[in-house]
Amino acid sequence: MSAHGTPVPMTARASGPLKGEACVPGDKSISHRALILGALSVGETRITGLLLGDDVLDTARAMRAFGATVTDHGGGTWSVQGVGVGGFAEPAGVIDCGNSGTGVRLIMGAMATTGITATFTGDASLCGRPMGRVTDPLALFGTRAVGRAGGRLPMTIRGADDPLPVRYTVPVPSAQVKSAVLLAGLNAHGETVVIEREATRDHTERMLAGFGADISVEQTDEGRVITLRGRPELQAQSIAVPRDPSSAAFPVCAALIVPGSDVLVPGIGLNPTRAGLFTTLQEMGADLRFENMREEGGEPVADLRARYSPDMQGISVPPARAASMIDEYPVLSVVAAFASGVTDMQGVKELRVKESDRIDAMAQGLRAAGVTVDEGDDWWRVTGLGSGNVPGGATVASRLDHRIAMAFMVMGLATQGPMQVDDGSPITTSFPIFGPLMTALGANIGPSPA
Ligand code: S3P
Repeated sequence: MSAHGTPVPMTARASGPLKGEACVPGDKSISHRALILGALSVGETRITGLLLGDDVLDTARAMRAFGATVTDHGGGTWSVQGVGVGGFAEPAGVIDCGNSGTGVRLIMGAMATTGITATFTGDASLCGRPMGRVTDPLALFGTRAVGRAGGRLPMTIRGADDPLPVRYTVPVPSAQVKSAVLLAGLNAHGETVVIEREATRDHTERMLAGFGADISVEQTDEGRVITLRGRPELQAQSIAVPRDPSSAAFPVCAALIVPGSDVLVPGIGLNPTRAGLFTTLQEMGADLRFENMREEGGEPVADLRARYSPDMQGISVPPARAASMIDEYPVLSVVAAFASGVTDMQGVKELRVKESDRIDAMAQGLRAAGVTVDEGDDWWRVTGLGSGNVPGGATVASRLDHRIAMAFMVMGLATQGPMQVDDGSPITTSFPIFGPLMTALGANIGPSPA
């Protein structure tokens, strides 16, 4: 099934050198948060560089449904007239978050401590994903949730009328869960404390501080302890969204495996909680250089140059790094196929509950393309064949998962035979200009012949 009803089969074929500048779109995580915090603040938040992907557009629609005025000024510039903490209105209809786990989980948190009721749904992928990881901690505030078996969407949330502050240790490494609890804590009197044993992306904490919330982060023996004082008046901000490192991963990895390539990706966010892929690639021997390191809007940013790297070696990726590159394992597994030796990825159980079971989706596609993959519940291992030696010539199911579709399109640029995905339409959730951007670099990617 496709994201929009009609599947869009796509094919990638061996390509000449990839050259030029790849201006990838705005960061998905930061774009969701900018819209949601803008909606919860007082005054007008201006956002530049917003990602115009389906996931973020669904969140923009949702914020309107909760009463914020969200205006698209064109070219990625948006404004949000907020309703203030606790000011959400009850939506008249069902909130459809499409494919977006981040969208639905953060919005559930944001409305969970206001005495209103909202019903959430999404596409077939999102309706298969677990929501209990968010509704369990929200219940501690007094929020009620009724969904399908296994805590699946569609689901109705009744916000707590008189929310109690919460102290919660996040049981899985998940920035979505952490953020949902923090957003709920905004409208609870007193201090909400969230503890994470492993650090996950910290955009919510950074942005809450930027909007004027009283929030502190302390590293203790228990882990990262985040303390938020409830009922602040959030002040509208100007937010420049950096380019998404998770989207940059695709042209960067393509450049590493396509002979003769030299690609520059300007202005990407390099928040250390997101940059694990680049460390891993450098350890594998990738020719990657960071230029012009700077800070923009509270986030570290740099230009990244990637060149063809024929001598990469497989490595063991430490489990402690998993959270900082959780969305990048699909494309890393593609690079691993073109390296020599084994790439071992441990501590990655969360990959099984993403837009698809990403270990299974990648393992099946890689095997169909002639690559040996071993897997267990929370690990997988790719045996590399070396540059130029990967057969390819397979058709792979993208399973309503944008990153699976893009990973196999990158792979097909350097395999002996073409790679095809049954449906590239999910790519628009996070990287709507993927096709034209890659083609402009010299990639042979396009719709499959009828
Ligand atoms: C995200 C957190 C991660 C990530 C997702 C975006 C976020 O999910 O996979 O693409 O913006 O908070 P988890 O919180 O489930 O790890």
